[in-house]
Amino acid sequence: MPLSPGQQLEYIAYLVKNCQKCPLYKSATNPVPGTGNPQAKIMFIGEAPGFYEDQQGLPFVGNSGKLLDKLLDTIQVSRSEVFIGNILKHRPPQNRDPLPEEIKVCTPYLKAQLKIIKPKVVITLGRFALDYFFPNESISRLHGQIKEIVWQDLPLTIIPVYHPSAGLRNGAMLKALQNDFLTIGRFLKN
Ligand code: URA
Repeated sequence: MPLSPGQQLEYIAYLVKNCQKCPLYKSATNPVPGTGNPQAKIMFIGEAPGFYEDQQGLPFVGNSGKLLDKLLDTIQVSRSEVFIGNILKHRPPQNRDPLPEEIKVCTPYLKAQLKIIKPKVVITLGRFALDYFFPNESISRLHGQIKEIVWQDLPLTIIPVYHPSAGLRNGAMLKALQNDFLTIGRFLKN
């Protein structure tokens, strides 16, 4: 019998748990493979686990996650219906930016997750997730836009937004995030 999407995601989580393709596993407490509905229509992709995510092994459970929850509330979407993942599955020390080599060896897990879940809509949170689909594009230009693409034979609607942590630091970015979520909400209604 073929594995169900949930079982396939568990297998990816197992591979992530045992991953030693870059040194981040040495300083991390827990892997954060991502979590949510294996058949989600909407997938959120962040950057990398932070302190609390590393402690709990779950994505977006710290301050950025609390803001993400509020933004989800505004569009009446619950965590249980989406999948939330990251570009990197282990926390970089002191939350530094992901390195190109780390992104290169880690994103095959994300690619596998996307191919298992086959979401219709992907919301990229921040510039590293944007860069995965649109290399060398600027988030200040693309945020809030609805981009229809075919990625690896998969038709995807990508809606890039600023990272919630940017919204926590800067009022203008928070406003932009709130606005972009209104766009997402309207898009999902249609
Ligand atoms: N920031 C991210 O990009 N991902 C998380 O999981 C938490 C914070």
